[in-house]
Amino acid sequence: MLAKLFSYFLPVNVHKKKSNFSKTLEVTWNNGQLVLDSQNTNYSYGSLQRILRKGLKYIGFERIKKFNSILVLGVAGGSVIKTIVDEIKFTGKITGVEIDESIIAIANDYFKLNEIKNLEIIIDDAFEYVLKTKEKYDLIIIDIFQDTMMPNFLFEDFFINRINFLLNIDGFILFNTMVIKEKDRVRNLDYKKKFSGNYSLRMYPKVEEHNELFTIKKLK
Ligand SMILES: C[S@@+](CC[C@H](N)C(=O)[O-])C[C@H]1O[C@@H](n2cnc3c(N)ncnc32)[C@H](O)[C@@H]1O
Repeated sequence: MLAKLFSYFLPVNVHKKKSNFSKTLEVTWNNGQLVLDSQNTNYSYGSLQRILRKGLKYIGFERIKKFNSILVLGVAGGSVIKTIVDEIKFTGKITGVEIDESIIAIANDYFKLNEIKNLEIIIDDAFEYVLKTKEKYDLIIIDIFQDTMMPNFLFEDFFINRINFLLNIDGFILFNTMVIKEKDRVRNLDYKKKFSGNYSLRMYPKVEEHNELFTIKKLK
């Protein structure tokens, strides 16, 4: 608790570990809040949680509450899952897919993710998981980063088509992207063009300095 108090003056690091996927993983008290960061960016809680909360607000908390199943690709400390459970009071099934086992250990130790009853965590590459799963979802949250890098597969037709197939009609995709360079902006404009008239896509630029969100609704 002393660390929490002191963190209003200076950040207090409580855990630091090398990671194969994210260079380093750090848990830090910052302004009275426990956050999870990779080497160069915030992963969970902090700004990342604010960004995804905005995305969920755009879709609508009341609408989400009525959904049956949610898929979260990229779990890290689980801050969007906490928003869904604690703020939206969603009681349906949540499936979280995360490639890095060590980050789930941190999520359980520091953020008590394992105490959420309606959550199932799967350690797998999101790309592999979406190929294998037989489930369909009402909301698919795509929040995949390796430090600040977004893997290319996220923007490729194969993955996009598979995600669209796994989405129920009237369901939503929430996709968090980082736009730092001009090529990222172009990449996102190309992504937007991939959705036909069967989808209603909205782009939210500069949600926070470098983040651009997409919400995509699957129409009848
Ligand atoms: C920004 S963090 C996710 C934050 C989380 N959505 C939250 O609300 O707190 C990005 C996560 O994506 C994970 N990741 C990166 N590549 C992945 C992949 N191919 N499959 C699954 N997870 C991946 C990283 O290990 C990291 O935990």
